[in-house]
Amino acid sequence: TMRRKLVAGNWKMNGSRAALAELDTIAAVAAAAPGVDVAVAVPFTLIDAASQRVPELAIGAEDVHEADSGAHTGCVSASMVKEVGASFTIVGHSERRADQHETSHDAWAKAAAARLQGLNVILCCGETEAERDADRAERVVQAQIEKSVPDNADGSWFTLAYEPRWAIGTGRTPTLDEIAAIHAIARAKLRMLIGDAAAGVRILYGGSVTGANAASILDTPNVDGALVGGASLTAEKFVPIIKAAA
Ligand code: G3H
Repeated sequence: TMRRKLVAGNWKMNGSRAALAELDTIAAVAAAAPGVDVAVAVPFTLIDAASQRVPELAIGAEDVHEADSGAHTGCVSASMVKEVGASFTIVGHSERRADQHETSHDAWAKAAAARLQGLNVILCCGETEAERDADRAERVVQAQIEKSVPDNADGSWFTLAYEPRWAIGTGRTPTLDEIAAIHAIARAKLRMLIGDAAAGVRILYGGSVTGANAASILDTPNVDGALVGGASLTAEKFVPIIKAAA
């Protein structure tokens, strides 16, 4: 495959100025692994300091608003995070969908806004446990992709992340066959939407990725990297995942 692996961390609502010290080791390991791309999304409050501390590492936001400015109290735009050093943003994370009632259409608008400002995008999809139990995982993911992937998506700026909600923060993961099945379906859906550009789009797996399971997950067909929550918070846990991708 011509797609470079991407290992992306997502700190969620965790971290502090002191915790940014973890990024020093992560940046050093990333620099020593030129075959893999490494990125870390941090809370808005830490983007500026993180990007100044480790300018060689891709630092991103965990969300952006779909508008560029205006009367949206408490929200932050793509141009704002760009100004303080973000090079990418996550959109459509399942926690945004659950906590902030965001839809796939919202994720689409956010991805488009981020792209307009020159940010790279990691767009998330994934089924709930009830949907999987009802054998609807494939259809749910297909529908999410159809509604959220921008027409102009290509691998130069756009990455898809498949994160089954029931695997997030639970220590449970799908089988490798189940991961391969969804990733193949996601790739096929991308091909229907954006044609040949689909071959260049990385599809990450996310949900309870650890140093122990990363190698086998990253070796699964159509898995082009990982989106890592809990295990991205410390260099001790994140570095083995980067090494598994290298
Ligand atoms: O964005 C990251 C995912 O939600 C995965 O989180 O690695 O803590 O399960 P986790």
